[in-house]
Parts: sequence; C-alpha cells; structure tokens
Amino acid sequence: MASNFVQANTGGTLHSADDASIRPVDRGFLYGDAVYEVWRTYDKRIFAWDEHWARLKKSGNSIHLHIPWADSLMMNEIIKTGAAFRKQTGHRGEVYIRLQISRGGGSIGLDIDLAESPEFVILVKPVPVLSAEIMQKGLKLTVAQTIRRNPPLTLNPAWKTGNYLNNIMGLREAKQRGANDVLFLNLNGELTEASTSNVAFIVGNSLVTPPLEAGVLPGITRAHVIKTVAQSAGLSVDERPISPAELETFDEAMLLSTTKDVQPVGLIDGFRYRVDREAKLWRLKTEFQAFAANSVSRRPELSVQRTVEDGRISI
Ligand code: PDD
Repeated sequence: MASNFVQANTGGTLHSADDASIRPVDRGFLYGDAVYEVWRTYDKRIFAWDEHWARLKKSGNSIHLHIPWADSLMMNEIIKTGAAFRKQTGHRGEVYIRLQISRGGGSIGLDIDLAESPEFVILVKPVPVLSAEIMQKGLKLTVAQTIRRNPPLTLNPAWKTGNYLNNIMGLREAKQRGANDVLFLNLNGELTEASTSNVAFIVGNSLVTPPLEAGVLPGITRAHVIKTVAQSAGLSVDERPISPAELETFDEAMLLSTTKDVQPVGLIDGFRYRVDREAKLWRLKTEFQAFAANSVSRRPELSVQRTVEDGRISI
C-alpha cells in the first residue's frame, strides 16, 4: 500500500481517494459550491468535534445549503472511514479527517434550485508532520502583493466553503517568491491570515492577533488560544487591527490551525522572529497540546478506534 494512501467515504461507500466517486455535474466540482471542515485526533480521539460541527452548520446556513445529516450519523461514517484507513495502511498514529459537503449535482447552471441533493465525502489520512527544519527555523511567509483577502461582503472569509481560489492564488504568489505561505492584507491594508491558517504574534507578554472583523476565518485553534491557552502560557491577548508596518515590532510570529496547532514562523519578508528554545511560542504550543489532550480525555465517544458494526458502535 502506497504510504500516501488516503481513505475516502462518499455517501457511505468506502473507497480509495484515487477513485472517482462524484459526478462531473457535482456543484462542488463545477463551482466550489460546497462547505468543509478539517478535524484531527489527539490520543486517537477527535478534537473539537462540536466546534467544527457547529461551524460546518453555520457555513452551510450562510450559503443556504441545508445539511441533512445528523452529527451522530456523520460521526459513525468518520469512524467507519478511520477503521478502513487503519485496516488498509496499518497506521496507528493520529489522523486528519476532512468532511466536504457539496450541494450535489443536477442540471448545469448557477441557480441553487437546480441542485438535487447534497453529497458528502470524508477523507482520512495521517496528520501531516512538520519537517525538522521547519520546526527549527520556522516558516517563511510573505505578504501578498497581487491579491487581497476577500472582503466579507464578497465570498466571506468567515464561511469555510469549497472555494479556495483566492487563497490558492495567494499561496502561488508566495511560493513564487520562495516563501512557504502567504499573509493576506484586507482591502484596508491590514493583516488578516495565511492561506489555511490564522496568524498571531508575540510582543513582550502579549499575544496579538487580527480581529474577526479584519476578514478571517473564525479559527477554532485561534478561539481556544484566545479563550484559554494564551493565559495558561502566561500571555495576555490583544485582538486588534494590525498594519504591516508593525511586523518589525513583533518578537515572535506563528500560524494557528487544526493541523498545525501553533506553528513557528521565522521570517516574514525581511523581518526575523525568534524560534529558539526560549521563544514563548513553544510554551504556547505545549499548553495547546495539553489543552487538547485534556479536552479529548473527557470524550471517549470521540475515539476513532471504535468499530461500527450493524450500526452499533463498540469502543
Ligand atoms: N484550515 N484560516 C483559513 C483560511 C483556514 O482554511 C483555516 C483552517 C484556518 C484555521 O482554522 P482552524 O483552527 O479552525 O483549523 C484559518 C484547515 C485546517 C484546512 O483547510 O486544512
């Protein structure tokens, strides 16, 4: 089995993610007319299940896409997919889970009334591991020059939809300039976020991050950091508009996302940030992981190591 095998589940049917399963007229494929979420496990249990499910429903409501499945049904499907992935690959570590719900197929045309019924696809693979070099040196980011984050009155960044073309174009520009990821400005020229992560900085004992109003995804990692984890790491929180001119004043920089939790950033354009072992972001990372471990320890029902047989789940 190839080491990059991804297990898929389309509408309840298990298959390799290399196999076709969605119709060419599916609106997720044609228009990005879809919503999605990404979870990861800690201690083989799904972290922040409720928060991601709530955001999925919210994204669905925002685009007038009613999600017809109960969260308990989707949880069973995810567990089924996780079990199939383990069986195929022998993988025993933590997993990445992506659930994408499209408006479905139908006659070609933008009108949402043409859609027949929603489709879901679950993808399971190992949680991506950061290279030792990136952990040591931190990521290299660049502020996008040719493109801005969508303003909330267009394709609202608060909706986690299947349409990431703006982010894809930003990432392309960043890669072309030799960076690992992009930092988008909004139309007011303030910092927003990276291609698939929120961003935060440390100055003194304060964690600074753009407010939701800047036009960012309300990240679940970001929310836990702001509400709980920053305090545990001895940091106060300052949510406020940030201008790129401030980049030279920060001590440390990081990306925040489900798959990365707290990921050190070493360089943004010409500005260097601390990533040595004394940097405060390491304490934040440790505290985040402790928070996640503690949170899943109270939720055995979120274990992906259960098996689903005849609709009954055993742990
Ligand atoms: N990305 N901003 C954007 C644009 C994102 O796509 C994501 C998540 C985040 C961080 O959100 P959270 O902490 O809830 O994961 C911020 C996921 C991980 C992805 O697309 O893989």
